[in-house]
Amino acid sequence: MELKGVRKSFYGVEVLHGVDFKLEPGTVHALMGENGAGKSTMMKIIAGIHLNDGGQVFIDGNEVTIDSPAKAQELGVAMIHQELSPVLEMSVAENIFLGREPSKSGFVDYKQLYKQTKELLDGLKIPINPKAKMKSLRVADQQMVEIAKAISQNAHILIMDEPTSSITDREVESLFAMIRDMKARGVGMVYISHKMDEIFQIADEITVLRDGNLVNTWKVADVDYDTLIFNMVGRDLKEQFPKVTVPIGETVLKVDGLTREGQFEDISFELHKGEILGFVGLMGAGRTELMQCIFGMTRPEAGTIELNGEKVEFKSPREAIDHGIAYVTEDRKGEGLVLPMSVAHNTTLAALSDFVSGGLLSAGKEAKVVAEQIKALNTKVHSPRMAVKSLSGGNQQKVVLAKWIITNPGIIIFDEPTRGIDVGAKADNAVIMISSEMPEAMGMSDRIIVLSNHKYSGELKREEFSQEAIAQMQFKYM
Ligand SMILES: Nc1ncnc2c1ncn2[C@@H]1O[C@H](COP(=O)(O)OP(=O)(O)OP(=O)(O)O)[C@@H](O)[C@H]1O
Ligand SMILES: [Mg+2]
Repeated sequence: MELKGVRKSFYGVEVLHGVDFKLEPGTVHALMGENGAGKSTMMKIIAGIHLNDGGQVFIDGNEVTIDSPAKAQELGVAMIHQELSPVLEMSVAENIFLGREPSKSGFVDYKQLYKQTKELLDGLKIPINPKAKMKSLRVADQQMVEIAKAISQNAHILIMDEPTSSITDREVESLFAMIRDMKARGVGMVYISHKMDEIFQIADEITVLRDGNLVNTWKVADVDYDTLIFNMVGRDLKEQFPKVTVPIGETVLKVDGLTREGQFEDISFELHKGEILGFVGLMGAGRTELMQCIFGMTRPEAGTIELNGEKVEFKSPREAIDHGIAYVTEDRKGEGLVLPMSVAHNTTLAALSDFVSGGLLSAGKEAKVVAEQIKALNTKVHSPRMAVKSLSGGNQQKVVLAKWIITNPGIIIFDEPTRGIDVGAKADNAVIMISSEMPEAMGMSDRIIVLSNHKYSGELKREEFSQEAIAQMQFKYM
């Protein structure tokens, strides 16, 4: 597949300024760039969702006009979308074969449909019941179904737009096995992701987009982390994560001996006001499980949690939220957003009562708070009055995050924050940040706790941070 000088505008605003891009058969080409750079738009042109306003598109050397998703499918293109759009009332099988169900004398042959779906899912080692309703599945499983669907189309060009944003480490491993298998069969794949470790594992080539322009394309062996970041943001890391020092206050959270066997064992730490506490560890070290437990999603088998000096035992996330804890994950797809409504109204929706006096919404107050959040989160919008649905995927997530933040949580737990989000703590709150990227964790944290194989392995103060020290701690219990 090849793009030459491709342009695209929405409502008179050009968002792709003439990009060239080439995908070779049997390779994985990673596409990177900040939120709003134009990655999804560029790939939706190949998938027949948007038509380019300028430039040329070639598939197998022939110039083509891909003016519908059906045309894309005919040309052998499949896309796993960043925004999942399952038909929730239908079964897994119906979703996968939507519009191409096996039929017998004019009717859908359900027996055959379930059989084919089972074969497909078994072959991909995805343990999901073909008859289950989509709405009964976890987001991660819905994402796996979406992946299976794209693979079942036998496309020779497969586009994956942030396919791992809500799946677990084990599922990432099985996705990567599928990708390697398709590579061997000559499928060309575009892989959009913000996750550096994934990119370096799976990609052959990497292209960076910035503000609708193609910055550069490298073979994966010829480029490193810092170069990619520099090209994505146009500045280097020190400037990207300027460390603001906030006075460290009293203890707000005290975790003592917290244990869930096989997930995290005997974990103790304290979190203080004004502090950003980084949690570092290898995939599967137990960081997410630990945070989910603190947030009331699971119950500890041993150990205690104290909040502002009082022991708490949350039975649900709702209780944690009521106690001023926010848990922000990457799995925020459209969560709680009213898509046709403006960025401003979506932001203030959850805290609406703060903006209403005498029955009237204070537009001035709302505008001020919204503008602050847009600046703090570096959200790319043309105007706060713009509908959320015309934001890029990552920027939609930032609106969800802003909604959380303006409710003023005392503790915010970020599980792998999207790049470029300023997770800065203020004097009256505290932040826990799980990050798999060491430069990011070291750039932003006041203190780092390292987990190794479900255990507390050690702790470093800012002045002690070094890649070597952290790496050693990561492997301590392996
Ligand atoms: N349907 C649309 N209507 C109007 N503007 C749009 C639409 N889709 C995308 N845009 C704009 O095009 C620009 C590029 O968006 P795009 O979704 O391609 O970014 P992206 O690189 O995929 O970002 P992310 O990492 O956040 O997913 C953004 O400024 C976005 O607001
Ligand atoms: Mg996108």
